[in-house]
Formats: sequence, C-alpha cells, structure tokens
Amino acid sequence: MCGIVGYIGNKKASPILINGLTRLEYRGYDSAGIATIEKNGIVVLKNKGRVSELEKILDGESINGTIGIAHTRWATHGKPSTENSHPHIDNKKNFAVVHNGIIENYHELKDFLLKNGYTFYSQTDTEIIPNLIDYYYSKDVLNDDKKVLRAIASACAELKGSFALEILSTYLPDKMIVVRKDSPLVIGRTNSENYISSDIPAILSYTKDFYLLNDYEYGILSKGSAEFFDQNLKPIKKDFVNIDWNASAAEKEGFDDFMLKEIYEQPKSIRETIGSRLSSDGSCNIEDLNLNKEYLQSLNKIYIVACGTAMHAGLAGKTMIEKICNIPTEVDIASEFRYRDPIIDEKTLVIFISQSGETADTIAALKLSKSKGAKTLAISNVIGSSITREADYTVYTHAGPEIAVASTKAYTSQVILMAILAIYFANTLQINSDLVKNLTKDILNLPLQIEDALKNVDAIRNFAKRVYNEKDIFFLGRGIDYNVALEGSLKLKEISYIHSEAYAAGELKHGPIALIENDVTVIAIMTDPILLEKTISNVQEVITRGAKTLVITNQNLGDHDFDNMITLPNTNSLISPVLSVIPLQLFAYYISKQKGLDVDKPRNLAKSVTVE
Ligand code: M6R
Repeated sequence: MCGIVGYIGNKKASPILINGLTRLEYRGYDSAGIATIEKNGIVVLKNKGRVSELEKILDGESINGTIGIAHTRWATHGKPSTENSHPHIDNKKNFAVVHNGIIENYHELKDFLLKNGYTFYSQTDTEIIPNLIDYYYSKDVLNDDKKVLRAIASACAELKGSFALEILSTYLPDKMIVVRKDSPLVIGRTNSENYISSDIPAILSYTKDFYLLNDYEYGILSKGSAEFFDQNLKPIKKDFVNIDWNASAAEKEGFDDFMLKEIYEQPKSIRETIGSRLSSDGSCNIEDLNLNKEYLQSLNKIYIVACGTAMHAGLAGKTMIEKICNIPTEVDIASEFRYRDPIIDEKTLVIFISQSGETADTIAALKLSKSKGAKTLAISNVIGSSITREADYTVYTHAGPEIAVASTKAYTSQVILMAILAIYFANTLQINSDLVKNLTKDILNLPLQIEDALKNVDAIRNFAKRVYNEKDIFFLGRGIDYNVALEGSLKLKEISYIHSEAYAAGELKHGPIALIENDVTVIAIMTDPILLEKTISNVQEVITRGAKTLVITNQNLGDHDFDNMITLPNTNSLISPVLSVIPLQLFAYYISKQKGLDVDKPRNLAKSVTVE
C-alpha cells in the first residue's frame, strides 16, 4: 500500500526522504515522488517506477529544501503513471499533498470543484484534496496564522473514506501539516527535527521517540516543535512514546532477504513474546489485561477476527481456547465479519489479530464490535498502531519489526500469544490446571526446538529445487495441522506465484482428489497423534494416484513410502503450528529464490493493507 515519508529540520530533506521511501518499498508500490519547499515555491518531482529511478531524476535537480514530503503509490484510482503519482498540487500551486487511503466521495467532490472552475491533470482521488483546501482557503476572510489549518480542517471534514495526509503550503513555508483518519501515520521527533512516516521502521534509525495521532488530530510541525489540535482545532497536549525497537532490527544483517532473516529470528521473537508472562509453575500474567472470572464465565462466545496469516493464527487460537477454556470460539475473516451483521453483544469478547495494527478491514470489524457492545482485545506487533488505540485491551506480540511482506515471525508470535491468552483465561477461570502446567512447559521449550526445526534447511532447499517448476502444489492436514496447511499454502502462493490449495485431509474424497495426477506435489502435515492414522491413509490415497509427497511430522511414523519426510521436535499438538510452519516457510522462501523472484516484495501485495 502507499507509503508516506516527511522531513522538517535543518538538513537537506531529499536524501532523507529517499532513504525513507526505500525503507517503505516493502509495502509494495508502483510509483514514487517527493515535494520540497524551495526558494521559488513548492517543487514536485515524481515518476512511475522504482524509488531508485526517482533518485536518478533528483540527481539532476538542485533541490535543497529542508522541508519535504514523499510518497510511494500503490495504484487504486487511476493506472500507475507519473501524473497519477503523488505529491499532488492544486491549480494555484500553493498546496502539495501526499495521501495514503481512499477518498470514497471523490466523484462528488471533483464535480463540485469542476463547477467552481478547478481543473484536474490526474485520475486520482487525491488530486481533489489540495484543490479543496485551496477552495476553503480562498473563501476564508480571516487572515490569521490558523488560516491554512482551518482550510485543511474544512476540506478534511468533507472527505469520506480513509486518509493520512502530509501537506505543504507556500503560505506556511517553514511548516508542515499532517492529519490522519483510518490510515497510518507516525511522527518521529528529535530536538530539532520531525520525521514523518507510515510506519516506525522507516525512520527508526533517526529517532525512537514518536508522536501517535488519533483520527482527525492535526499536527503542525516545525523544525524543533510540534503543535497538535483536535477536530475542532482546539490545541491538545500530546506526549511522545519511546519505541524500544532496535534500528538494526529493520536491517538485513547479512541475510539475503528480510524474509529469511525473519524466519531465523523466530527463536528470539518467541522468547520476546513469552517474556515474563509465563512461569514454569503454570502461572500467567499479561500486562494491562484484567479480565475477571465473572466476566469470562458470562461470555457466550469469543470471536477471533483477522485477515490472511493473522487469521490463520486465529484458527490455532480457536482450538486452544476451546480445548483449554471450554469457551465456544469462532474465527472470521475481517472483510466478511464486518458486512455480515454478526451476532455479538456485551457477552461476546472479540479478539483482533493484526501484525501491523493498520489493516483496514480488521479496524472496521473492531469498530463494529464495539458499537454492538462487545469488549475488544487487540493482538498486534506495532506499538501505538491504530487497532491498539481503538481496542479496549491490547496485548503486544513483541516480535520486533517484520519487514518482508510474507509474514513469518509475526505468525508464530501470534500463535504463542493465543496460547498464553488461553492459559490466562483458564487460570482466571480456575480450570484445567494440569493441562496448563504441561502446556506452559512445552511453550517455554519452544525457542530451542525452533532452532532444531531450522536445521532441516538443507532437506527443504533440496526439495524446493526439485519442485519449483510445478504448476500446482497441494497441502493437507487435519485439525490444527490443517490450519498450518492453510498457512503453508498462503505463504507459497504469495511469494512463488505457484497455484496452491490447502485441504482438510478428510475432505479429499469429497472432490479435491480429482486434481491428483501423476507427479503432482502434495505436502502433508501430521503432528496430532490422535489424527495420525487418518491422515496417513489420506496420504496413501494420493501416493496411489501418483503424487510425490513431503510429510512433515513430529511423530514416529515407522515404515512408510513417502518420498520425503521432515521430522520435527515433539511438542504439545496445540502449539505444534509454531514448529511445523517452519519447514513450510523455508519451502516457500527457497522456491521463490529458485525462481529468481523478489521474495520480500511479491507482486501486487502490500505489507499493510490499509484500504479495503
Ligand atoms: O498486518 P495484518 O496482520 O493485519 O495483516 C494481515 C494480512 O494482510 C497478512 O497477514 C497477509 O496475509 C500476509 N502478507 C501474509 O504473509
């Protein structure tokens, strides 16, 4: 999705803006641009293509301004092109704007502006914004120092949809104005500068102190200060938060790709997720969470709502909560949940899982749940992200910045956090203490077991080399292993572009087995001892029809005729996804490498899906 960067300070802005845009490249984009305030007014440079090409264009220009805004565009309205890329400027060239989000009523607003004499050079929804600001600016008869802010606020009040905006104006040549609604934007501060970005890692090397804006809060940024205003333009006091992520955590540190680095970081990220929340005696303490026994007993249902990989972590969470806490739990995809009028009330707890905390559908589902009276709990990796500011409770995964589009360490941290949450619920309900004690021991062993699971890398790489040219690859599993099959299949299609499906193994005979023919690749996950025999039978059925198989297990399978087998350390089947997903992550990674693809930035995908 679109990425925003901004700088205001004493240094030349353009190299900082380019550096920030490069760090946001992982979000996915098709064009890039910057605008700075120069002696003669606002200068805009933009082009279709990579940030490196924009950098070359910049080399030939004398751009020296110390205030600038920048953007990577992921096309929604209008094709990828130089005209459609941001920043956009109004007809009189007094306001330049970069925008992340979608303006849903832009047709209406464009008609209004056309009738008032404005013209447009692009097909974007964004171009209406600087012109609408100009419209309100020129209508305002007062000439005080809040005139630009008033014009921006009047324009924003007209916008329906989502937006994070950075605005430069020739009327305020030593300031920048920012505002957001349902789209991410953070402000990093030092004593003499402000850095703006769509996400924290892009500017983490400059500062660790961040201001976080709520919806419709305005920031007027200068070199050494930041003033904030609410929707009614009343001044508000805002404290900055210190984000203790290490800047080098957002670097590749010798790995070829962020995804590989993040796969190998999992022993560490799981340790961070566990933190001091669990003790070996089974006791559990989750900071800032104080749900009591009466409340948990009163629940008629728990919903877990998320998208993509986070939803797969939710599926593992459902099994854990139902098994350990006996509370009926349903998992839903946020984009479905928000439009299907779900039956929820004050006796429902809705848990939202989102690595970025900025996923538009998940945020909308959260707002809907609150409006129906449910308590909401966010599980996120990003401190201060939108979802954490909307939810009644937040628990952080603490997996560290995840840069690769394909989520790996965030998934395993989400699964473990769901296990910790289930333990917390069970302890509060005073049930299943033996199960909880044993599970706790197994969770505490996981970091070392992940290190062992990673040792299978050569076998996985070799298997990937054999099958990287396949057209279709199928994944099978039952119970919690089916959840992992779904995640393995998603990972593969995301970064290898190979068609892949995951099936509940018991469903094979109900249709999918018709797809099995000679030499097709089937990957089966079997870690649950209770379901082992059943899944083995299903795998035999595909072998009989000519499939080549890779089996991933933590059980002793005795004699078998699978082509390949990866044996993982044994653990409680409830948390086995954390181990069994590792060969699948490596498999997707090495297939993508073998095909010569851009692992970290797969086509058409974005890291944070901030529009629906
Ligand atoms: O930031 P979120 O966890 O809310 O993102 C949800 C999905 O967009 C995300 O998990 C997506 O499926 C990943 N690219 C999967 O690797």
